[in-house]
Amino acid sequence: MSYRITLLPGDGIGPEVIDAAVQVLEATGIDFGWDRCDKVGTAALKEYGTPLPDYILEAIKRDRVALKGPITTPVGEGFKSVNVQLRQKLDLYANVRPCKSIPGVDTPFKDVNLVIFRENTEGLYSGIENYDERLEIADSIARISRTGSYRIIHFAFEYARKHGYRKVTLVHKANILKLTSGMFLNIGREVAEEYPELTFNDRIIDNMCMQLVQRPQEYECIVTTNLFGDILSDLAAGLVGGLGIVPGANIGDDYAVFEAVHGSAPDIAGQNKANPTAVIRSGVMMLRHLEENRAADAIRDALYETLAEGKYLTADLGGSATTTEYTAVVADRVKKHLEA
Ligand code: NAI
Ligand code: MG
Repeated sequence: MSYRITLLPGDGIGPEVIDAAVQVLEATGIDFGWDRCDKVGTAALKEYGTPLPDYILEAIKRDRVALKGPITTPVGEGFKSVNVQLRQKLDLYANVRPCKSIPGVDTPFKDVNLVIFRENTEGLYSGIENYDERLEIADSIARISRTGSYRIIHFAFEYARKHGYRKVTLVHKANILKLTSGMFLNIGREVAEEYPELTFNDRIIDNMCMQLVQRPQEYECIVTTNLFGDILSDLAAGLVGGLGIVPGANIGDDYAVFEAVHGSAPDIAGQNKANPTAVIRSGVMMLRHLEENRAADAIRDALYETLAEGKYLTADLGGSATTTEYTAVVADRVKKHLEA
């Protein structure tokens, strides 16, 4: 089989980890035609006058599948996040982030197996913001819709059923945000009735944070609104070894964009020391989406072996291997697996 995939290297550590992922994906022997879109975010602003030029959206709409590196968003000013724009414009409503313990990656917790489902198009990311200059009052509106809530909660339950999970936990703040979080919780209770074989419960966000750092093994699938999902997924990444290893997928009815949970890590960009595992594993999720399960298994095994062996680890995992050294070892193992 051959596939055309839109490739968005992004910025910061993006190009380094995306190049690593491409090398490992190509080691499977699958024929990828990459539609590489280098100019995005700040780099696109200079050339196209917009951080998200149309040619990128057109490429993803044509290919339907994209692999994406992180894109820097200016803090407190400047353009609206390209990441958020992509999710909204392509209606990628389900942000799926599996956080699973990896044998050999040392953490205080064993046997964590969580999947976070973050609503990806609304909530506090709706972009409805207002500043009243006279009164010096700023508002950001957390818009929650029935349709938006139903589809992400339904997605989480379907995923749980399909992948053999037994439990779905909905995370909210319905005690305070009675209308928005309250509606999300009520829709969760309705959807749960369609899945009598799955256990459904709910937790208030602050309590959930404590529960996750004390007893993460008690949770399986977690579904929540946009901002809570953003925060909980970095927390959950921390439980299993950090942002360098946790993958993600943005899924809609028509398109899918695979990207790690982490950002552009400006503190280590350009130093050949970023951990590419998170983006490589996002590539594994992409392969499963394409039903290339044999190749996906080979990359998963190659990563697990390399991490468990512990000889070539990047700095975030306590090693001293560079991004390129680690990648070469993994790519080599992938080839050996598929030849065997
Ligand atoms: P970050 O995730 O980029 O970095 C947080 C910490 O984790 C840093 O110390 C970084 O060095 C480390 N880290 C992240 N990925 C790593 C990797 N692969 N290997 C080793 N260490 C890694 O978060 P931060 O610093 O809050 O955000 C930086 C920029 O990234 C911001 O402009 C933000 O808007 C953007 N961002 C973009 C995302 C996306 O494109 N989807 C997601 C999150 C943030
Ligand atoms: Mg985040």
